[in-house]
Amino acid sequence: ERCVVAVDGPSGSGKSTVSRRLATAIDGIYLDTGAMYRAVTWAVLQAGVDLTDVDSVIKVAQETDLSIGTNPLAPHFEANGVDVDAAIRGPEVTGAVSAVAAVPQVRAMLVQFQQDIISGAPRIVVEGRDIASVVAPDADLKVYLTASAAARAQRRSAEDATDVAATEADLARRDKLDSSRAADPLKQADDATELDTTGLGIDDVVNRLLDMLNS
Ligand code: CDP
Repeated sequence: ERCVVAVDGPSGSGKSTVSRRLATAIDGIYLDTGAMYRAVTWAVLQAGVDLTDVDSVIKVAQETDLSIGTNPLAPHFEANGVDVDAAIRGPEVTGAVSAVAAVPQVRAMLVQFQQDIISGAPRIVVEGRDIASVVAPDADLKVYLTASAAARAQRRSAEDATDVAATEADLARRDKLDSSRAADPLKQADDATELDTTGLGIDDVVNRLLDMLNS
């Protein structure tokens, strides 16, 4: 039967790894909505647009041809025909993405895109910040992953080999921007099950989510 899983949470909560593993386990596809905001941000930077010029940001977002990979084993993204998998994880995009994601018209456009992908998929795990609340309020399972700030920074810096203290500061900066923006500020859905992953391994978390799905 149909199965939509919403996985929300802040940076370094383990969302991506867990979501990909869970999607594979349920033989479903995987949608990384953060990567969509990142790909649009890449295009905005590429176009040389000033981030405070909201009309131009919206225009670039609308004109960007996004190719969104949903294979949980190898999610590959292209923007305007360019492979952006590495660039969207770089410091320039990470530094600008919260500003782009704060633009209501950009969000409306990407949410529509996300909902189209979800409605065409029998089984899907969708990860982001507003999935349970805005994108897929009818999801079969809604989880909100958390972890201590130190654990989140440690995981992220292990991934990209940057300094732990600098990473912790950057995550705090982005969390603050994301949760204080005017349009759809990042907040936990009332009906999502919170799971603190501090000290839990990936298998532990994936198994708990599978238990929740099967119960
Ligand atoms: O994994 P990490 O938290 O570093 O970032 P991400 O999930 O790739 O999301 C990057 C940024 O996109 C976030 O900091 C938010 O500004 C934005 N975002 C959003 O606004 N809504 C989503 N559903 C997903 C991401």
